[in-house]
Amino acid sequence: MGEGFKDTPQRGGHGQAGHVPVLLKEAIDFLNIRRGGTYVDATVGLGGHSYEIAKRLGAQGRLIGVDKDVSALERARERLVSGHRSSVVGRDSEEMLTAGDESADWPSVELVHGSFADLANDQGPRTKDGFDGILADLGVSSLQLDDPARGFSFQAEGPLDMRMNTQSGETAEQVVNRVDEVTLANLIYEFGEERRSRRIARAIVRSRPIRTTAQLADVVSAAARPMNPAERRIHPATRTFQALRIFVNRELDDLRGLLGAVPHLLKPGGRLVVISFHSLEDRIVKDALRDGVKQGHYRLLTKKPVTATEEEIDRNPRSRSAKLRAAEKI
Ligand SMILES: C[S@@+](CC[C@H](N)C(=O)[O-])C[C@H]1O[C@@H](n2cnc3c(N)ncnc32)[C@H](O)[C@@H]1O
Repeated sequence: MGEGFKDTPQRGGHGQAGHVPVLLKEAIDFLNIRRGGTYVDATVGLGGHSYEIAKRLGAQGRLIGVDKDVSALERARERLVSGHRSSVVGRDSEEMLTAGDESADWPSVELVHGSFADLANDQGPRTKDGFDGILADLGVSSLQLDDPARGFSFQAEGPLDMRMNTQSGETAEQVVNRVDEVTLANLIYEFGEERRSRRIARAIVRSRPIRTTAQLADVVSAAARPMNPAERRIHPATRTFQALRIFVNRELDDLRGLLGAVPHLLKPGGRLVVISFHSLEDRIVKDALRDGVKQGHYRLLTKKPVTATEEEIDRNPRSRSAKLRAAEKI
């Protein structure tokens, strides 16, 4: 598996298994890391992909890790800073943390709290000639999914939060208890691709107030019982939870914002790699790359999306739905 990939589960401070990076080797290969280059990991998460990027950059290199989630940045700091020098920079560029020593061959690492859509803003991190590569590994990490207090999972009782950035924005609880039935049905249909969205929205409105993940999962399950064996394979609340998460975090708008900015952020020869986990995201990525090719911005590196091998899926079931697309700036 190439040079020393570390895709074993990362262990957090509490001893639990952490996030396993998906399509790690493939992402690193497509990024074609240039020693001394400047790379952006737009979804640094727990730093799994970033660690492999950093290892290849050398002391002259620069890695910028972005995440909406402060606790993810803390974990990324543990992983990317340990024995190295780094800093965590807030939205207002105020330095929050500095740790570790200088390491002979480790790049400078900047961790930025905010949305990757902010990379389109002038205040975002910049280089003189553009970035050598940008990676976006979309969606949630297992740090977020596995913590009931974050409210992402219907499999554990928790407050209905679902915000990646817990410092701002409306929670899923506020959304399900505020919006009218038609709007709720539309968002469940659009972002969850849920055919029974109207029935589910009606049940939610009738059951208000809804405060917890388990309460919402019960309401949705009762309203949308599986109709056939294929539907029985996924939990009836899966699509509604996906829809709320996408809505609460403005995931598709942020993705469009990032993809719109990338042609202006990369230097010629610079690489974009995006890993998506559901068809709504993949369609946006596919269309943006196709348009970028038409406009002369990109050379496509993946005619078809790259997916995980059977072996990776066995090791890490989360990789089953992953699709990687990559392009090179002309
Ligand atoms: C799948 S995880 C990334 C895992 C990471 N590649 C690793 O190896 O540890 C996705 C991360 O992206 C973050 N995220 C999702 N959308 C984001 C956005 N618009 N801006 C910044 N971070 C985002 C989430 O908070 C989460 O930590």
